Amino acid sequence: MSTATRHEASGALDIAWVREQFPSLREQAGGAPAAFLDGPAGTQVPRQVMDAITNYLTHANANTYGMFATSRRTNEMIVSVRGAMADFFNCSADEVVFGQNMTTITLGLARAIGRELKAGDEIVVTTLDHDANVGPWRALEEKGVVVRQADIRETDCTLDLEDLQEKISSKTKLVTVGYASNMVGTINPVAEITKMAHAAGALMFIDAVHYAPHGLIDVKALDCDFLACSPYKFFGPHMGTLYGKKEHLERFKPYKVRPATSVSPECWETGTQVQELIAGIGAAVEYIAELGRRCDATTKTRREALAAAYATTVSYERALLTRLMDGLENLPGIRIFGITERARFGERCATVSFRIGEQNPTEIATFLGERGIFTWDGNFYAINLSERLGVEQKGGVLRVGLVHYNTAEEVDRLLGALREFCAQA
Ligand SMILES: Cc1ncc(COP(=O)(O)O)c(C=O)c1O
Repeated sequence: MSTATRHEASGALDIAWVREQFPSLREQAGGAPAAFLDGPAGTQVPRQVMDAITNYLTHANANTYGMFATSRRTNEMIVSVRGAMADFFNCSADEVVFGQNMTTITLGLARAIGRELKAGDEIVVTTLDHDANVGPWRALEEKGVVVRQADIRETDCTLDLEDLQEKISSKTKLVTVGYASNMVGTINPVAEITKMAHAAGALMFIDAVHYAPHGLIDVKALDCDFLACSPYKFFGPHMGTLYGKKEHLERFKPYKVRPATSVSPECWETGTQVQELIAGIGAAVEYIAELGRRCDATTKTRREALAAAYATTVSYERALLTRLMDGLENLPGIRIFGITERARFGERCATVSFRIGEQNPTEIATFLGERGIFTWDGNFYAINLSERLGVEQKGGVLRVGLVHYNTAEEVDRLLGALREFCAQA
């Protein structure tokens, strides 16, 4: 069965089972159960991830390539987790790179790609992106590379594709776009943009950090050249991962120390990795696959199970998003950024940013935090977007991020608290 057919076959989300897997969801704060609506800055982790980390540290803790048992176990674990991430991305295991986080990985990749660029070569970035997908490329301006920035359509915070197309030319060597905005939730048409980049002979880099907890990634279908994401945003530990087409990982030369291997993908992994956390990444992928098998017992491969999980969580999150949007739109003085039309919810994920009149978002976040509701305020490093929307000087926005372990009750609690805030403001 294809993954597309599998999507349709998936069942309803067993939210009780999901929440049982996450010990931290039982935390109390402000005299109430903690409501973790802060997923875009990092999700909670299931017990499986904690167990894998403890298990690694107990039974396999060693550096790689030693002539003894724990070192061999470490090697085997890394091979196995590369395989898990290959299923996650839909690529080969030797196209998976581990690293400290997406920012560090992207800085390293930009330096490596930059070695081959010359003054006057161009890179296209966007206004919608987190600065981790802008700053590393802008750093190449030091050597005369020209960075051009594609704008957004302000009304719905989507990328202005005409502007993007105009900015791409025969001088463009790389187009770099986020899969989904970590501030306003917009999901970009990255497959289409990859075609635009390739038509001009440019490489395509996708920042999938924000998309990864919300949708199935398929690098083969996208045909992108690189894609980065961070496991701590999809229920794993604090690390980053990169997919790179084998030919590129072998051709570009990362900066490295002399004794370190020149063989890809390991040559991209600077210094000793946080191996216990790599073990945790494998468990995070397994957790999502296990969820998928519970949604659709007929799945045969891990990839199919991952597809089944996302098919279920996408529709679950969409229902939560609708409930949130219905409530938010009734608040006095609210300004919601991004797509609000229900018929277009397929173009966004359940990350919603807004302002309430001239209220300071930090004050709203503090008010909610005191009631055990965890949200974020500010620009979340999407600084170009915050400036473009004219909110940077006013404390940015309040961001509510929903993932599949959140509930309708939590959304209702948030809305009740926001109504209370508005009444006393
Ligand atoms: C869309 C997006 N890209 C990149 C990053 C940076 O990721 P990392 O913290 O792994 O460097 C973040 C972090 O919030 C993000 O949301």
